[in-house]
Amino acid sequence: MAQIGNDIALARSFLEKGQLVGIPTETVYGLAGNALNAESVALIFETKNRPSFDPLILHTSSLERVGEFVSDFPEKLKQLAEKFWPGPLTLLLPRKPIVPDLVTSGLDRVAVRVPNHPLTRTLLEQLDFPLAAPSANPFGYISPTQAQHVEAQLGEKIPYILDGGPCAVGLESTIVGMEGEEIVIYRLGGLEIAEIEDVVGPVKVKDHSSSNPSAPGQLDSHYAPRKPFMLGDLKTLIAEKQAEGFDFAVLSFSDAFEQIPQEKQIALSPSHDLHEAAQNLFAAMRKLDETPVAVILAELMPETGLGRAINDRLRRAAVKG
Ligand code: TXA
Ligand code: MG
Repeated sequence: MAQIGNDIALARSFLEKGQLVGIPTETVYGLAGNALNAESVALIFETKNRPSFDPLILHTSSLERVGEFVSDFPEKLKQLAEKFWPGPLTLLLPRKPIVPDLVTSGLDRVAVRVPNHPLTRTLLEQLDFPLAAPSANPFGYISPTQAQHVEAQLGEKIPYILDGGPCAVGLESTIVGMEGEEIVIYRLGGLEIAEIEDVVGPVKVKDHSSSNPSAPGQLDSHYAPRKPFMLGDLKTLIAEKQAEGFDFAVLSFSDAFEQIPQEKQIALSPSHDLHEAAQNLFAAMRKLDETPVAVILAELMPETGLGRAINDRLRRAAVKG
């Protein structure tokens, strides 16, 4: 069983031995291992049950250290790094040979980010290698936003989880790269498109499909609860399920429903705050997935700001692969 605590020296000693540790970030918890040690990286794929064609993000402590791993840093991407690191931004940059093939799945670019969580920043500063860290969930399931989520699913397989409390952002990082002169967003996430456009001008958002080779992790069915997850107008869906005699739970943006038991409904933000909704999203999806009902009914958020990234996750949760 994994130990849970805030002992950075202990986390460090496991990582230095090649073992894996659950780490907090501002986005979601990561399953971390030495990114320069191919055996540790292989252990990450094995522990998550993740296909090896899905590359990993390399986490480091500062912009200055990124030069150790990348051969070029285009000016516009550097501007984004200067503005948003540490933070929920991942950049795709040409890699140096020191980065193992397994980290990038053989691609020419490596994904890099400087996460913003005090425990993990201190840990990264003390380590003399970067950490490869996918979200600390079994492949295809909802990302963890609390140490207990990591413990529940991977606790048997790793020695230690660094507990940094609930994640402040609650959505994975926004993944950004360049194609020619164009800035491209490959995954919507915790950094809003408008914030990026304020720095570098208009960007292109790649339309993801299950066959998109430049971000293989963008499989249609992803971030998915185990229960059937239906998206639509909640009043209509509720009436339908009631008529069919199905037992259901409800995930709403702000509304509470009087006729439905408290334990079978969660409003992500009663005050209509998309940041709060993002913070609560994955924990709420987990909770309803564990509630004994046949189906989860949910609605989309307004398609603005973080609402776009939240809706991306909701749509993927609703696809059954
Ligand atoms: O917020 C986050 O990014 C979290 C925390 C732990 O940092 N990490 C995370 O990692 O979400 P993961 O492995 O669950 O998702 C990483 C995504 C995948 O969709 C993967 O395909 C894409 O990043 N990716 C990684 N390296 C890539 C590369 N070289 N080229 C294209 N896509 C890449
Ligand atoms: Mg993930």
